[in-house]
Amino acid sequence: MCGIVGYIGKKEAKPILINGLFRLEYRGYDSAGIATIENNGLKVVKNKGRVNDLNNTKGIDSLKGTIGIGHTRWATHGKPSSTNSHPHMDNSENFAVVHNGIIENYADLKEFLKSHKYKFLSETDTEVIPNLIHFYFESSKKTGNMRFLDAIANTCKMLKGSYALEILSSMYPDNMIVVRKDSPLVIGKGVEENYISSDIPAILSFTKDFYLLNDNEFAFISRDSIDFYDSELNKIDKECQNITWNAGAAEKDGYADFMLKEINEQPKSIRETIGSRISKNSKTLLPDIDLDKKYLNSINKIFIVACGTAMHAGYATKPIFEGLCEIPVEVDAASEFRYRNPLINEKTLCIFVTQSGETADTIAALKLAKSKGAKTIAISNVIGSSITREADYTVYTHAGPEIAVASTKAYTSQIVLLAIVAIYFAEILEKNLEKCSELKNDILLLPTKLEEVLKNTDKIKEFAKKIYKEKDVFFIGRGIDYSVAQEGSLKLKEISYIHSEAYPSGELKHGAIALIENGVTVVSVLTNRMLVEKSVSNLLEVVTRGAKTFIVTNQELNHDFDEVITIPKTSTLISPVLSVVPLQILAYYISKEKGLDVDKPRNLAKSVTVE
Ligand code: G6P
Repeated sequence: MCGIVGYIGKKEAKPILINGLFRLEYRGYDSAGIATIENNGLKVVKNKGRVNDLNNTKGIDSLKGTIGIGHTRWATHGKPSSTNSHPHMDNSENFAVVHNGIIENYADLKEFLKSHKYKFLSETDTEVIPNLIHFYFESSKKTGNMRFLDAIANTCKMLKGSYALEILSSMYPDNMIVVRKDSPLVIGKGVEENYISSDIPAILSFTKDFYLLNDNEFAFISRDSIDFYDSELNKIDKECQNITWNAGAAEKDGYADFMLKEINEQPKSIRETIGSRISKNSKTLLPDIDLDKKYLNSINKIFIVACGTAMHAGYATKPIFEGLCEIPVEVDAASEFRYRNPLINEKTLCIFVTQSGETADTIAALKLAKSKGAKTIAISNVIGSSITREADYTVYTHAGPEIAVASTKAYTSQIVLLAIVAIYFAEILEKNLEKCSELKNDILLLPTKLEEVLKNTDKIKEFAKKIYKEKDVFFIGRGIDYSVAQEGSLKLKEISYIHSEAYPSGELKHGAIALIENGVTVVSVLTNRMLVEKSVSNLLEVVTRGAKTFIVTNQELNHDFDEVITIPKTSTLISPVLSVVPLQILAYYISKEKGLDVDKPRNLAKSVTVE
């Protein structure tokens, strides 16, 4: 939800900022802009549209400064337009700001500033920030660098909401200040140069040494030094962390799109997720979760809380926790959980699943659970992300950077990791040990089976060509297959803009079947031997009404359907990792047939750092 990037060093800032913005474009692509400090002061170039449009915007060639900030926007307050684009300046044009987040009390602050004769050009919440900085700068009693910092610290005290900010001032041409609260920001350390970004992969090709800011911390950055301060402007120490990710992991590697690359990476990402956590005939190792038998015996409910695809990983793994640990599990959307006064206490364990670790609702839900005495576990893909700093325990999926907005490899890694957590708990509880050992064997075989699934994509591609012009598609399944149907349906909506709905197979006849008519496509997932006959009956109900059928199964079916994609057999409990892949591929090729931007679907952002 908006990406920010910054550079301060000896090189020209513009190409570095543009490069970073291209990599952060997955966070929003309504407009883009950069500000640099030139010999004659601050210079801003911005435009509606994508980073590519910014590259062709008037004035961009004149930017030669070696210090600059950049922004790619996902519009919240004010439509996408050049005026509403970041960076925003104050009325005196001495301060330029880029912002990721939302200032909830911006209307009040605007009124306050207007009463002091400030004027506003844009409809954004952000424009109050540079003007407030100017206001406090003028009234500050401090001198030198502390005056700049003091103005920003006073401004932050007035802001309600979330923000990652980069601030430049023409009066401090060799410095930049950054601060964050509930929005991500990392600082990459180089030699006589420093980089700022919303995420690590965007600047990974420049440095592997990173500082991670906590909420309400400031960094005063020069070319060769970074000073850190807490909210009261006391100096603090920060440890630099070395990131071992390879920069190539954030490139397309010859694939047409990041999504296709990430779909094909699943055998590898699942191998990474498994790592040495499970192996045949030995106990599951999850040293990051330090929970003992007494505690696990004391809990009476597990919540899995997340958003979007991560929530679907929760649905897919609820039966594993319930089946192995014999503890009831509730899966909830973080945006619902946080406002419905959920019944939790110290006997509740809450697991928060988030690829980015930055989803605002998921982080707020975790804080709520903690405040009610529950223990909290974060499942995330991003080392050092915000949620990992809030949770009692964190386990990483290690799926590698996921760039395409529509999540694929993160989903399958989340399922595998949640399954491993469930097995780990069951082993501590000494429950269902035989089932645990069977499931472990099946998990270890997943990467090879995924390779097999990925070899057979021709039929899926052909089917995509047949249905890409359709308006509605239905996804059905029973039990765990229904959770996969939900994810398949979400993938299709996200990247093809075709309306789709997921239904439990047996539920379709209670309403939605009224929409099934000649030629409507019904996609079904069928992996549970016990439910095959019932599911086939449901399919015949739609076939009778003229539906086209696309089936993903690992069972023998005694009926003809329009297309049947056979996947390798595995335990039903872990089958979503295999059965979702044909649905990811179907959505991908439908989007390609329609000529859409697969990696950056309209209106979406990968990391939703606003409520
Ligand atoms: C956005 C993305 C989804 C993602 C969801 C949760 O909506 O478009 O792909 O599943 O956020 O993201 P998280 O980073 O918390 O897993």
